[in-house]
Amino acid sequence: MSEEALRQAAAARKKDHIALARHSKRPEENDFDKIFLVRPTLPETISNSTNTECNFFGFRVQAPFFINAMTGGIEEGDSINRSLCKASEENGIPMAFGSASFVEINPDALEGFVEARKLTNQPVLVNVNANTDVKTVKLLVKSLDPIALQIHVNAVQELVMPEGNRNWIWKEKIGSIREAAGVPVIVKEVGFGFDVASIKALAEMGIEAVDVSGKGGTNFCDIENCRREKGDFSYLSECGFSTVQSLINARFARELLSLPEEEAIPLPEVIASGGIRNPLDILKSLALGAKWVGVSGQFLSTLLSSGEDALVEEIGEWKDQLSGLISLYGQSSTDSCQYIPWICDAELESYARQMARLISPGEI
Ligand SMILES: Cc1cc2nc3c(=O)[nH]c(=O)nc-3n(C[C@H](O)[C@H](O)[C@H](O)COP(=O)(O)O)c2cc1C
Repeated sequence: MSEEALRQAAAARKKDHIALARHSKRPEENDFDKIFLVRPTLPETISNSTNTECNFFGFRVQAPFFINAMTGGIEEGDSINRSLCKASEENGIPMAFGSASFVEINPDALEGFVEARKLTNQPVLVNVNANTDVKTVKLLVKSLDPIALQIHVNAVQELVMPEGNRNWIWKEKIGSIREAAGVPVIVKEVGFGFDVASIKALAEMGIEAVDVSGKGGTNFCDIENCRREKGDFSYLSECGFSTVQSLINARFARELLSLPEEEAIPLPEVIASGGIRNPLDILKSLALGAKWVGVSGQFLSTLLSSGEDALVEEIGEWKDQLSGLISLYGQSSTDSCQYIPWICDAELESYARQMARLISPGEI
């Protein structure tokens, strides 16, 4: 394919993703409904609006959730990013640009990211694929000043994508990008979740954070399948671990990493994303061990259907409701939410029991 054809195909794909994500229905129910937090009837707390504040890679932000990676590099995407940056600035929360690897084949695309970046003083994340040239990574970091770099790992999406790349040898490339980036690295799925062994492998590589981005919200198998002439991959629609299952997997990874025969290796920071529908899903994510929570489809849908002011308002309401929920569940800060006791339904309990058997030493 010529460079120009590659550029056009990538730009068309970005346009398709926005249109298809906008019109595809995200599930109303997902695994967050299988988690029940234990609510103290005597919370002994006074709700105050600062209890949602936390550090995001060392930067003080107003809430533990952020706008996750979606788009950029095409006119429509840049316009969306400008609105997302304004919503981030108004609400004091971070935002992530969608894949900026496009700059490698279309250097002119950098400008749109730079212009949007100027609209927020909050921390931003820049997203690339694992095949991105280190020169491009350095240029992106220099131009956009991200607090951390996201590297997306999206094998299911690439498999179903008509023009997808089937080379999924990524670990070494992730290592090289991390070395070049000079900022912390988040390795991120795009809606199919993380297994125990992959989280453990990233911990052993010293990766700073893992965004499990699991099943339960935007479904890139369905989106890419719509882009296929025959739509012949619908059977893969349920592929992957849900966000809740992935968070449980991260807990197992932490257990394996702390076994006495292993060198003590810390678990990367865990980010929950995929199917976050409301502030209670955020609280459940924190209780399950996530440090921060990313939201994509829900915020995009508000922006595209109701506009920028509605998104600013929605994020403001989420902060306020989360603040109330933290107090309702007996906590006074986002950090202590990890101690909220929780139980789950029989299906999820069976998942956890079977997974524990699978990863127990001697079985693997
Ligand atoms: C229109 C759109 C484009 C996306 N593009 C990217 C991307 O470039 N890089 C990436 O890592 N994830 C991308 N994602 C995936 C999201 O960051 C997130 O992992 C996924 O949508 C699941 O979260 P959700 O259920 O809140 O939407 C995109 C999502 C949407 C809706």
